[in-house]
Amino acid sequence: MHTTFTINGEAHDLEADARTTLLDALRQHLNLTGTKKGCDHGQCGACTVIVNGRRINACLTLACMHDGDEITTIEGLGSPEAMSAMQEAFVTHDGFQCGYCTAGQICSATAMLDEVAQGWPSHVTDDLENGVQLTNEEIAERMSGNLCRCSAYPGIVKAIRDAADGIAE
Ligand code: FES
Ligand code: FES
Repeated sequence: MHTTFTINGEAHDLEADARTTLLDALRQHLNLTGTKKGCDHGQCGACTVIVNGRRINACLTLACMHDGDEITTIEGLGSPEAMSAMQEAFVTHDGFQCGYCTAGQICSATAMLDEVAQGWPSHVTDDLENGVQLTNEEIAERMSGNLCRCSAYPGIVKAIRDAADGIAE
C-alpha cells in the first residue's frame, strides 16, 4: 500500500503492507529508530510521536492512515548539536536513566505544553474558566501515558517545568 507523508519536514513515500503500524514504518522502513517500541500495545508511551500537532502512540495506528499527515519524531525536535528547549531541560535535570522511554517522554511533553497553552483541561484541572495552572499534579496527570521503568519521574517533572518556564518567558 502506498502512503505519502511528511516526517520532520521531509516528504516520504512508503510502500508497505496495509497492516504496518506507524511505529514499524518509522523504525523498520524509514530507519528513524529514535522512536522506541516498548509494549507495542498502547500502554507505555515509548512510541509517542506528534502527528499534525497532537501526540499519539505510533504503535496504535496504521501508517496508511496517515496519508498527507505531518509527523514529528524525536529526530525532528532537535539534534545533539541543536537541542530543543525540552531536550536540553531533560539533560540538565537528569530526566532519564536508561533512556529507553526518553524520546517518547520528550515528544509527549512537547505536545503537552501546546495543549496547556491552548487551555485544554485535564482530569485534575480545578478551574475550567481561567486557564490551566501547570502544577506538578497537572504535569503528572498529563504525562501519565508515558511510563518510565527507571522511575526518573522527579527529573522528568523538573525538566518539563523548566522547559515550560522557558517557553513562557
Ligand atoms: Fe506504543 Fe508502548 S510501544 S505505547
Ligand atoms: Fe529508563 Fe525511563 S529512563 S525507562
